[in-house]
Amino acid sequence: GPVLAHTREELATLLSEARRSGLPVGLVPTMGALHEGHASLVRVARDRVGEGPVVVSVFVNPLQFGAGEDLDRYPRTLDDDVELCRREGVDIVFAPSVDEVYPGGEPQVTVEPGPLALLLEGRTRPGHFRGVLTVVAKLFGLVRPDVAVFGQKDYQQLTLIRRMALDLNLAVEVVGAETQREPDGLALSSRNRYLDDEQRHQAVALSLVLHAARDAAQYGVEVALDAARAEVRSSIGLDLDYLEITDPDLGPLPAAVPDGTEGRILVAARIGGTRLIDNMPITFG
Ligand code: PAJ
Repeated sequence: GPVLAHTREELATLLSEARRSGLPVGLVPTMGALHEGHASLVRVARDRVGEGPVVVSVFVNPLQFGAGEDLDRYPRTLDDDVELCRREGVDIVFAPSVDEVYPGGEPQVTVEPGPLALLLEGRTRPGHFRGVLTVVAKLFGLVRPDVAVFGQKDYQQLTLIRRMALDLNLAVEVVGAETQREPDGLALSSRNRYLDDEQRHQAVALSLVLHAARDAAQYGVEVALDAARAEVRSSIGLDLDYLEITDPDLGPLPAAVPDGTEGRILVAARIGGTRLIDNMPITFG
């Protein structure tokens, strides 16, 4: 099974042995409560590094949680997480404490995510992406991976991490992996376990909203948005936060989209007390 490292020093020792092979190192950053979505990222990482070491980090990063968010009740299931990593052939699980990652308390120097962080998730979660990019930059510094795998499930996060790697020359290949879903379409998420049975049924609305837009996309952006909005209105228990169509880099689409134009549709909504997000690629014309 995987070797468990709790400290930066343990991690460094394990990695220096692994790196002697000269093979590429893969990293899959997570906050634990691992599910089949995370497992799929591990398989993508394994695919990329071959016999090289795959590292999974498990760290609930306080810096990316806002006041009133679920930091305290976020599920912590390290034994199960290690077991999933064993099944998936992970070499190293890095599960540090908060003090190990932030020895001086709140860091003074953080990663400023720029204008992309003001959209979508950023509107209701100020400081969230600064926290994400800062911890991901630190994990890149600790592991120095050749390849790091992130899910398209968190599309704005993936976009910002790609942009950080580009703008700061971090010399890591950022790979975006497909969203894994339940049979009814609900995207897998550690937060799904907050849903009771009724809410779990209502939650399928998120993917239905996205599919409604995709099915209407041949008629253009406005028709697609209208179809999605109609699906929102017919969904019980869904408190919409945002529903937006952008270009694949989260920029605005041109007023007239030529046939074949690629975009992204993104949704966030609250069901009971639980905030869920989802997104899909969409092609117009
Ligand atoms: P976490 O929510 O644990 O997600 C870890 C990785 O799993 C992310 O890249 C996320 O996009 C991916 N993921 C989650 N659900 C998925 C699904 N259904 N299909 C495919 N991939 C999925 O995202 C974070 O943690 C944190 O912000 C982190 C990047 C670790 C920084 O703290």
